[in-house]
Amino acid sequence: MVSNKFFYDAQAEKEEIERVYRAIEEERKSKKVGYYDLPDAKDVVEKIKNFAANSEFIQNEMQNIVVIGIGGSSLGTKAVHTMLSHKRDKKINLFFLENVDPVNIEQVLNRKSLTRRVKRYNTFFILISKSGTTIETASIAKFIVKEYDFNLDSWAFKDQCAIVTDEGSPLDKLARQYDLNVFHIPHNVGGRFSVLSPVGLLPLHLAGYDIDLLLNGAKAVRDRFFSENMDELIIKAMFYVQNREKYPMNILFSYANELKHFNEWYIQLWAESLGKIDKDGNRVGLTPIGLIGAIDQHSFLQLIVQGPLNKTVTVIKVKDFENDLTIEDINIPFLEKTNFVNGKTFQELLNAECDATTQSMVDQGVMVDLLEIDKLDEFHAGYLIFYYELLTSIAGVLLNINTYDQPGVEFGKKILRERFGAN
Ligand code: PA5
Repeated sequence: MVSNKFFYDAQAEKEEIERVYRAIEEERKSKKVGYYDLPDAKDVVEKIKNFAANSEFIQNEMQNIVVIGIGGSSLGTKAVHTMLSHKRDKKINLFFLENVDPVNIEQVLNRKSLTRRVKRYNTFFILISKSGTTIETASIAKFIVKEYDFNLDSWAFKDQCAIVTDEGSPLDKLARQYDLNVFHIPHNVGGRFSVLSPVGLLPLHLAGYDIDLLLNGAKAVRDRFFSENMDELIIKAMFYVQNREKYPMNILFSYANELKHFNEWYIQLWAESLGKIDKDGNRVGLTPIGLIGAIDQHSFLQLIVQGPLNKTVTVIKVKDFENDLTIEDINIPFLEKTNFVNGKTFQELLNAECDATTQSMVDQGVMVDLLEIDKLDEFHAGYLIFYYELLTSIAGVLLNINTYDQPGVEFGKKILRERFGAN
């Protein structure tokens, strides 16, 4: 399970807490915000499982999956995939084409390598875009069609590709016109809140992960919240919002390399959702930062501990890595002072470092809380995802903003079109 321990004293009036529960309940009931109901979508899970089970290509030929998508269309899947990288029992590779960086595209496709891992005959392509108009995703799709000599009308293409998009979007129209496999994202589920829809469920199921367990983890935290049994989540969001001038930055200090992309997903969720002009016309926002322990103890930690006290820190600690790799009990000349770790598992060392760093930050007056999770599996991935989605929604209510739009990102898109002479 997941436990949340606070090292600072944050409190809130009962009526205030109840007001937030009501506001989030309203959001859910209004059906304007649909992610709250994703853990219950058993029909979607069935559709994905049937699709995979009935595809000869997926069952017999597929060795690689390439997800083409960006932002909310890729980050959540990548977060779960990286979090569970130690659990994969199938020999299926999952790749992501997100950026229009030519070097990265060539590297992912291994175009210049002799091995050419990603080949036309062993790769399933999933094109994901809610809007169906994202320039990065469309550009990469064009490249793939040409690179692998796909004909939109061919059976080969139909067998080897699926589209995940909103019903009625340009990509949906393409899928219908050419009879391609298509999965829909509910209209009321925003991009960065969509990992538990087909956006994440399709690639994760094909890659061999247990998507039922993922949804069960999300459901556990969702049901606890909606039975009004999660005051600590509301109190945490309130603390962030009420103290945002003093603590404008919120660090997620994750003690596991496997949480690197979860940090990136959190950064998108928190920044794109909460950086807004509020209903009174003020610019508001909270700045997310993602760190990895113990690596960032040798980098960012100094700033936290002795720099300005203007950041909150949430430490994520994994109790059990299900790995007993051990530090040898040997004496290396001149390194005798390090012998205190001899015979310890790496997990013991990492978690002891996590505890020691947490204690040091608390001692220096940093606002710290600890999220301790039993292990990295699908259940806990779903739990963490939904926990942060809820925290973001609550912060959005308290900031008096629209948490689910992102009008600010349109300015640059308009300038880009003008530069290329498009209307
Ligand atoms: O959260 C969001 O809505 C955005 O970050 C989108 O996910 C991102 O811009 C990609 O959009 P789309 O899925 O429409 O291609």
